[in-house]
Amino acid sequence: MAVSFKSDPTARGFFAPTRFEADVFDCEVEGKIPADLNGAFYRIGPDPLYPPKFKDDASLFHGDGQVGMFRIANGNCDYRSRYVRTPRYIADRKARKQRFGNYRNDATGDPGVRGLHSTVANTALVHNAGRLFALKEDSLPWQVDPNTLATLGTWDFNGKYASKTFSAHPKIDPLTGDLLTFGYEATGLLSNDVFFYVIGKDGHVKSEVRFKAPILSMMHDMAITREHIIFNTCGFTSNKAWLDAGKVHWGWDSTIPTYVGILPRDGPARDIRWFKGPERAAIHLLNAETRGNKVIVETPASDANPFPFFPQMDGSAWNPAKARTVLRRWTFDLASKKDSWEEEILFPDIAGALPRIDERFWSLPYRYGFVGYSDASRPFDEKRGGNLKGRVTNCYARLDLKGGQVASYFAGDTHSLSEVQFVPRHRGAAEGDGYLLGVAANYAETCSELIIADATRLADGDVARVKLPFRAHTQVHGWWVDAADLPLCDPD
Ligand SMILES: [Fe+2]
Repeated sequence: MAVSFKSDPTARGFFAPTRFEADVFDCEVEGKIPADLNGAFYRIGPDPLYPPKFKDDASLFHGDGQVGMFRIANGNCDYRSRYVRTPRYIADRKARKQRFGNYRNDATGDPGVRGLHSTVANTALVHNAGRLFALKEDSLPWQVDPNTLATLGTWDFNGKYASKTFSAHPKIDPLTGDLLTFGYEATGLLSNDVFFYVIGKDGHVKSEVRFKAPILSMMHDMAITREHIIFNTCGFTSNKAWLDAGKVHWGWDSTIPTYVGILPRDGPARDIRWFKGPERAAIHLLNAETRGNKVIVETPASDANPFPFFPQMDGSAWNPAKARTVLRRWTFDLASKKDSWEEEILFPDIAGALPRIDERFWSLPYRYGFVGYSDASRPFDEKRGGNLKGRVTNCYARLDLKGGQVASYFAGDTHSLSEVQFVPRHRGAAEGDGYLLGVAANYAETCSELIIADATRLADGDVARVKLPFRAHTQVHGWWVDAADLPLCDPD
């Protein structure tokens, strides 16, 4: 039967699957790519090869992962994209149909694929010891060739990485080059086992800590300070009865508290201290710092379920007002016997769920955050953008966390931006001195553009736009790798 996405309401406009892989040699460029920008901007997101089997499947989370690469050198840019050849992608392609069931609920798939891993490898990327990984938190990392984007298979760090899963958001310690990461549901579906790892810049596992989270929950990100590792849970949970009912893996339970675990660096599992707070969803943690007895975590968070495609467990309607995600400062007092924390809202007018920093400052005192957000006061072309006014991410902000100022880049009245990526101008550049990169959907020309803006002069607009002659696949997260860390690339 011929494929049709008519029944998938999420597969519309710029979120519709592209279902092709691309090579564009010497892309068209408006403006001038800075001569000191050399490397590769990788991006990854869902690009479903086939529609979901069931209409309530979370297709944004469950589309087949496709990796895109903007390879930039000497003011030029080549583009390439490839699907990650997961067992699901290969099996579906062979059958010319969707054989897998609801998100992370393997029993809802065709009996013939139940032994195959259903990961879609579609969330984030990281580079360690010359290896580029496509990440999805239900699986080991998928190694992808950094030049050809060919799928090389899963990687378990020479058998030393025992967790069955690997976070989409590991952190790189800027002082050591170590990769700090974890897996949750580490021993299997529905387990509350968490395994934390330090992996050296040589790619070898240096240490492992195993602990149990207070609840089974989505644990999408982590934060690091010089002294501590921070883990957090949220209201997304699951249980056997829920999965037996055939539902997508996660449902939101408003009755369960938020737990934040603080583990001393190099400490054993018994030293982790769990704090307990109100209903929150802190999906992405911006950065953290330990100051004396205080641990300060800065994180965007919402008051309740941020994702309409994951149902409320009590059957109630999703609340968009409570899904609004703004930056908060959580302060934990290790000297206090209380298990709660202080919360302060920062930049209440900037709602953005995908923040980044100058990542040379992970775990260190820092000043700037960068985030895409929607500024409804900016002009919007309603003829071309339809009913999306106030809903498109039309700006990137540089948030000054010390001074409170906001500087903004505006992409234009026909553009919507994906996650922002900061790239330092050079290795020794001061914090925030560099470029912001991100892919924009151009509604006027139905094509995608890589925006390059000077992070220190955002109000001046972009310095270059790399124009793709088509609508590129969607993106969740991106990752920059400097040319010095990449093998030489022959685009042919
Ligand atoms: Fe993420």
